[in-house]
Amino acid sequence: NRNISLYDALGGEAAIRSIVECFYPKVQNHPLLGPIFPEDINPVMEKQFLFLTQFFGGPHLYSEQHGHPMMRARHLPFPITPERAEAWLSCMREALKEAGIDSELAAFALERLSGPAHHFVNTTE
Ligand code: HEM
Repeated sequence: NRNISLYDALGGEAAIRSIVECFYPKVQNHPLLGPIFPEDINPVMEKQFLFLTQFFGGPHLYSEQHGHPMMRARHLPFPITPERAEAWLSCMREALKEAGIDSELAAFALERLSGPAHHFVNTTE
């Protein structure tokens, strides 16, 4: 079906949970990313689960709980360099693989995340 959402194609709620659970340990271990994230990553993981669900075309869970995403604005307190955007995307690439997402689908999901990741860059240092 051509009209299936990316959310459904990925595998719905269980898949998004799994991607998020694979992703944050990589973020926390990354030398450029770990230091800008809080020690207690659980609230971030929960918000990311809500957001990616919505971003990939599933139920609008993030907006229901947290209002308008305004994701670039929400990232302004953190120094997001071009290198950090690439690092984020590379952790996500690994997480999609680890979560067992089909490689073509993973490439498509990464493509969708690449625009926002680069758009969130707010400093060069
Ligand atoms: C929150 C970093 C890209 C989605 C955060 C936080 C940091 C961060 C430091 C805040 C953690 C805290 O609460 O203290 C980054 C970096 C990125 C990036 C370095 C590189 C470009 C993205 C992308 C998405 C995303 C591409 C999704 C398309 C989120 C969400 C939150 C968040 C949903 C939680 C927002 C909230 O507080 O409600 N990010 N992020 N981020 N990020 Fe990112």
